[in-house]
Amino acid sequence: MVKFKELLNKFEPFPFRDFRDEIKKGSYKKKSKFSYIGPDGEVYDIRNELNNLSGRKWLFFLNSIEITNYPTTGKESYGHELRKIHPSPKPPQLMKNIIEFFTKEGGWVFDPFMGVGGTLLGASLCRRNAVGIDISKKYIEVYKEVSKKLGLKEQITIVEDAKNIPLIFEDLGEFFDLILTDPPYCNMQARPKTGDKAKKRGKRFSTPFTTNPRDIGNINYNAYLQALKEIIEKAVQYLKKRKYIVIFIKDLQPDKNHHNMLHADIVSTLSEIRSLKFKGYKIWFDKAQNLYPFGYPFSYVSNQFHQFILIFRKEA
Ligand SMILES: C[S@@+](CC[C@H](N)C(=O)[O-])C[C@H]1O[C@@H](n2cnc3c(N)ncnc32)[C@H](O)[C@@H]1O
Repeated sequence: MVKFKELLNKFEPFPFRDFRDEIKKGSYKKKSKFSYIGPDGEVYDIRNELNNLSGRKWLFFLNSIEITNYPTTGKESYGHELRKIHPSPKPPQLMKNIIEFFTKEGGWVFDPFMGVGGTLLGASLCRRNAVGIDISKKYIEVYKEVSKKLGLKEQITIVEDAKNIPLIFEDLGEFFDLILTDPPYCNMQARPKTGDKAKKRGKRFSTPFTTNPRDIGNINYNAYLQALKEIIEKAVQYLKKRKYIVIFIKDLQPDKNHHNMLHADIVSTLSEIRSLKFKGYKIWFDKAQNLYPFGYPFSYVSNQFHQFILIFRKEA
């Protein structure tokens, strides 16, 4: 089993930077009791323990809807042509924006389901340090290739079942400033596709992340909720108090037995972890998707273009 402490010894982290140290050095102008004008002309509050953002940029993030339309080709796609071997890679720019809200420069971010590394690439883009785990070696290799190609710092990666988090981190203590992750959406990827995508391929097919039985994308709804809770509970041990855990989730289509609003069931299940408090969510709308006539002309079947970004905090 790989030990995180050994990897950390060999890693050169981005140094910690808090804008308040620069205020003390005199590079900001005092405006009022708590407010300072930074060298960029923006207003900063000296009580800000969370991030290095100005008041204006903090406010901008509070919008409950993130609408993005990132390119999937060229330099601005951040290696999408390689990352697209994964069925649901996250845009590094979106992850960077989230990381910049919940951490200061040089802070530590953990993603126990890293895939091809949307979180880790986002961390490197804003000079944060990150650790990613994925059960698939193939996905982690793609992340490394993308980092090299883009000239970004390669973060710490571990091929492992996230259930083994305590064996990897051992007695590390409360180390991370943010857990940002995008677990499988239950067994959505392992289900046979329907509609146009299936028609194009001439048969019903599925695109599971892996065929590994320990992949939590290959198990049923209730087993999935319990497995996710077990992994998050283990991860939270290594999160600092009053810091956040941010989880991407997409709902499944309803069926006759259940509404399948996975995001709501995850909020209920993770709220059973005593130290965690649900703080709300953002909705991510990815405009770069095609509309399919699911159900036409018989019944309503929605095109789910949005995902939930669930936000929890570890209480003191
Ligand atoms: C939705 S994807 C993450 C995609 C990622 N955000 C990206 O940008 O590529 C979920 C990932 O969880 C991984 N996974 C599933 N079960 C796991 C487990 N038990 N331990 C670690 N990783 C697991 C899958 O291999 C998959 O890559």
